Amino acid sequence: MSPRLGVNIDHVATLRQARGGREPEPVAAALLAQSAGCSGITVHLRMDRRHIQDKDLRLLREVLAVPLNVECAATPEALEAVIPFKPHTATLVPESREELTTQGGLDAVFLQAHLKGVIREFRQSDIKTSLFLDPVPDQIKMAAKLEADAVELNTGTYSDLPLGADPSYELSRLRDAARWASKLGLRVLAGHGLNLRNVGPVAEIPEIEELNIGHSIVGRAVLVGFERAVQEMLTAIARKP
Ligand code: PXP
Repeated sequence: MSPRLGVNIDHVATLRQARGGREPEPVAAALLAQSAGCSGITVHLRMDRRHIQDKDLRLLREVLAVPLNVECAATPEALEAVIPFKPHTATLVPESREELTTQGGLDAVFLQAHLKGVIREFRQSDIKTSLFLDPVPDQIKMAAKLEADAVELNTGTYSDLPLGADPSYELSRLRDAARWASKLGLRVLAGHGLNLRNVGPVAEIPEIEELNIGHSIVGRAVLVGFERAVQEMLTAIARKP
């Protein structure tokens, strides 16, 4: 079975926020992605609200037929903003105001005491928790110890390899981490920086059940339309029989 595709629509909101108006509407993009066959929609409610706004969460929750995954920082303010919308999953990510996009995975080992409380709070609200982690054994083991539902493996280092570099080491780290996580009973997702050119080998990792992809799909959608961009990615992640 091929991995499912979760489409991150943050950058539709980035375009809208560039003019502070109503267009393009992220919900419209989400519905097109849904009709093109994606299995979920992801948004990142950043502390600085640079793209997705609270009202987007409300609208998405009302109209989507596929699960909504909300990425957020593990802070009291983020929990307070996200929990009332009851997304299906909350993905905890590190967040700093200066970064252009998420930089690296969470340090679950360092933050274990804090994350334990956050995961408990989400669970009490019936929201599953996924931890965005680098493919490092100690981090994966900690996710299992903290009883997270899933890990999302950070494919950023693999995706950022210079053109022509040998990807085998980074792929082996992702493969090993996926195997570890699955053995420990965690659901395994992956994402960051994936595009039509580099996604194939990651999609072939058997334990990975879902890929979260945003920037490259939205960038392609500007040129060929949202549904076609999602369909192209679905074709690219289809596992060979
Ligand atoms: N997964 C996580 C945890 C992220 O923070 C992001 C970026 O918002 C993505 C996946 C998607 O990354 P990209 O936009 O590079 O496809």
